[in-house]
Amino acid sequence: MKRATVIFITAAILAACCPRQSSTPVYLDPTKPLEERVEDALQRMTLEEKVAITHAQSKFSSAGVPRLGIPELWHTDGPHGIRPEVLWDEWDQAGWTNDSCTAYPALVNLAATWDRELSALYGKCIGEEARYREKDILLGPGVNMGRTPLNGRTFEYMGEDPYLAAQLVVPYIKGVQEQGVAACVKHFAVNNQETRRTKTNSNVDDRTLYEIYFPAFKAAVQEGGAWAIMGSYNLWNGQYNCHNKRLLQDILKDEWGFDGVVISDWGGCRDDDEAAANGLDIEMGTWTNGLQGAASNTYDMYHLANPYLERLRDGRATEEGLDDKARRVLRTIFRTAMNPVQNFGSFTSPEHFAASRKIAAEGIVLLKNGGALPLRVDEISPRASLGRDDKPTILLVGENAYKMMVVGGGSSNLKAKYEVIPLDALREAFEGKADVVWERGYVGDTRTDYNAVVTGQDLSESRSPEQLKADAVAAAKEADIVIFIGGLNKSKFQDNEGTDRVDIVLPYGQDELIEALAEVTPNLIVVNISGSPVAMPWADKVNAIVQAWYGGSESGHALADVLTGAVNPSGKLPFTMPKALADGPIKTERQYPGIEVEGVPYWEEYYDEGVFIGYRWYSSKDIPVQYPFGYGLSYTSFELSGAFLTKKVVKAGSNVTAKVTVKNTGDKAGAEVVQLYVNDAEASVERPVRELKGFQKVYLAPGEARTLSFTLNPEDLSFFDADAHEWKLEPGDFHILIGTSSEDLPIDLLLTVK
Ligand code: BGC
Repeated sequence: MKRATVIFITAAILAACCPRQSSTPVYLDPTKPLEERVEDALQRMTLEEKVAITHAQSKFSSAGVPRLGIPELWHTDGPHGIRPEVLWDEWDQAGWTNDSCTAYPALVNLAATWDRELSALYGKCIGEEARYREKDILLGPGVNMGRTPLNGRTFEYMGEDPYLAAQLVVPYIKGVQEQGVAACVKHFAVNNQETRRTKTNSNVDDRTLYEIYFPAFKAAVQEGGAWAIMGSYNLWNGQYNCHNKRLLQDILKDEWGFDGVVISDWGGCRDDDEAAANGLDIEMGTWTNGLQGAASNTYDMYHLANPYLERLRDGRATEEGLDDKARRVLRTIFRTAMNPVQNFGSFTSPEHFAASRKIAAEGIVLLKNGGALPLRVDEISPRASLGRDDKPTILLVGENAYKMMVVGGGSSNLKAKYEVIPLDALREAFEGKADVVWERGYVGDTRTDYNAVVTGQDLSESRSPEQLKADAVAAAKEADIVIFIGGLNKSKFQDNEGTDRVDIVLPYGQDELIEALAEVTPNLIVVNISGSPVAMPWADKVNAIVQAWYGGSESGHALADVLTGAVNPSGKLPFTMPKALADGPIKTERQYPGIEVEGVPYWEEYYDEGVFIGYRWYSSKDIPVQYPFGYGLSYTSFELSGAFLTKKVVKAGSNVTAKVTVKNTGDKAGAEVVQLYVNDAEASVERPVRELKGFQKVYLAPGEARTLSFTLNPEDLSFFDADAHEWKLEPGDFHILIGTSSEDLPIDLLLTVK
């Protein structure tokens, strides 16, 4: 029986068997205001019932109030699809056969679309899948900032810029929550590495928090109306973030007005007193008793279970505090499991796979094109030297042309209904026109299962590395078109939860292989599939470079769409692609991954670089990068013209409007992302030389032009003054920079603020 039906039958039974209640109780009456229902339910609950809803009852659920017919909450990973069912109290698969989902592109891929509408579509689709699977809380999206390119979970986040992430997280949340599913935005806050993620105290000053690490969370709460936030594993200012008073109570709840539920990361709760007092509402767990124990079915031992009850009974915790938690949990249940406009969602529909393919393709970034793309097999006559007159041969080299990539990576691991690999997609695209063949070239990760989800592929290999390389080079000499498809994967020390990368250099000898292929192939195309930045020392030696991502179920099709030109690429990098790790802002161990300090029970880490992460660092220090933040090419060309400010001199406190016309000057329809950055000519604090404060993605037919309007508010021009605890706008000159990447900003409009 569907859960909504159960709720309504329960309401009917309660009404029938409680003669003194003349009508439906208020809390069950969907026509009554939410807060009235919450208060009505709360006053009917015992102390024990209130405590019961503040902690896990299984790996992915927390209790409801069975006596009152209030259903439990079901939580699910993650940001990229609905996680397969695990057992009640084990991480093992439950073995269901109806939980193979649509795998959506990784969030970094979504960020690379720079498209708010696609983010809304993503949220809607994944929300529908969650609803269908009767999940109430989706554990995502993640909006931690790309502080270091080494962070193993970069692929699960939305890049290195707070404005970009804030703009994209809002429609995602709305899309999810319109389905009656809570988006649980994670991991709050400053959870920017996997190395020692549960043992690191991040020392970050307020200005940096408010300018870099908070904006996406704040937008999630205030503009997206997020119903849930997940605390992070690490500490900030010496207190664990899952019960960090300043972060959760003072800032999130009191300052930003968050009325939803704070959920601990799994096992991130560490202390009885702090859990009770500091703004945590639901404690979830990997094991029990923080991260230490592995006893089974001991949810009563959770910090917010029996220890909390004891505290409440002997006065060490207040019922007022408990009521605040219970209200938030009830609100969440009424918003989700008991949402009156219950819709039942949909699962693995053709529309969902189509959306997944569209988002994946729109996020693929064309980094270089010497003319080899889009592929034009019709124009190729098979190499005359080979004496063949049959179809041209397209050789794919590299493990990522074949390896399924949805499986793995940690909690975002999915059991997809299907996954199309690049090799199959290109064979499909060129059927009858070209022979598409594959050489592995190197062995990366032979694993084909993760947490008992299996791909069914066989990735075993008997050839030596030398032989693999020699075979690939030999095949390249014979082929008409050679496409290298490599990059990273989701194994340990790659794009993976729990470990960081050790460098940004491509692993498994891929750099050498690419160089060797480039020597025998005049127009080598390189496709890098990764979730985080990689160095490209061979960039000058190849004809074309494409940055693709973990694209989900339709990743192969999406890549083929871009390579063939069926989709004109319009993705833009959501992070900087540096030339080398050492060029970045992290210079010392105290910055990353942290240092041991005598007498301190955790590792200390200092965000000494302050607000200078990503392009804020590279552009302010004039350090050349391989490809800048915001960069990406198209198969057509665009021109910006006619830019102006509607007012060149404004009073502090007024909005500012900039206008610019963008024209498609090429012969193909395509999209450009017009970007606006702000530069404060002179400030009393050191500010980045440019900060993204506006962007619009426009689709234009050949010859079509559109005039765009960008409105900046005073905060867009300000920095955060930590002493005054407010945004500060200093009068003077500002440059409003407009262009198509953080390094290509040909328009410079002078603004004077009085
Ligand atoms: C991750 C979270 C995830 C949770 C539940 C944790 O290890 O950090 O992002 O939602 O597990 O799987």
